[in-house]
Amino acid sequence: VSRSPRRPSAATLRRGRTADLDALLAIENAAFTGDRLSRRSFRRFLVSPHAALIVAEEAGEVAGYALVILPARARVARIYSIAVASHLGRRGIGSRLLAAAEDTARRRRGRAMRIEVHEDNIRAMRWYEKAGYRLFGRRRDYYDDHADALRFEKPLAKTRIGVQAAVKK
Ligand SMILES: CC(C)(COP(=O)(O)OP(=O)(O)OC[C@H]1O[C@@H](n2cnc3c(N)ncnc32)[C@H](O)[C@@H]1OP(=O)(O)O)[C@@H](O)C(=O)NCCC(=O)NCCS
Repeated sequence: VSRSPRRPSAATLRRGRTADLDALLAIENAAFTGDRLSRRSFRRFLVSPHAALIVAEEAGEVAGYALVILPARARVARIYSIAVASHLGRRGIGSRLLAAAEDTARRRRGRAMRIEVHEDNIRAMRWYEKAGYRLFGRRRDYYDDHADALRFEKPLAKTRIGVQAAVKK
């Protein structure tokens, strides 16, 4: 794997739609070996009022997605899944998807974001830690392969304006 700097992505973010399903499944199946989202689950999440599917698009191609779950009245949102096509990775698309997921949760009055990570997915854990997530728990036997999930959480500032006001005081 090349460690040389890559050109930052010029991907645009938008809401997912039915026409994205084939591309989303291709990314899902390449990114994960188990506990994959099926076409049916993607379809359900696309129309659910408690989910937001954010898609990154680059040069007309779906480059990645983030799926956020926000249960009614709950103040803790959850990244249900996030993935970027491997040939388009390490150019900031994942970080932008993660930030957009957090913005979506904030707009819906989420106070914190949570995520479960497969205990072997060390790279993803380091990545979340860089983005401000902290380990707070473990779910045993969480995945299809009986592996544990490590649980990460990040507090979400109420709004960006609120954060700026706090800094300026
Ligand atoms: C985790 C994942 C979503 C990250 O997506 P991504 O688009 O590669 O993410 P980013 O480019 O924002 O950041 C990834 C790395 O690229 C680096 N990077 C970002 N922009 C870069 C650039 N322009 N040049 C070089 N490196 C860059 C980041 O520093 C980061 O490094 P790290 O992995 O050592 O921390 C992606 O790797 C993926 O789909 N993995 C498989 C699925 C998965 O594990 N999902 C998480 C499940 S919990």
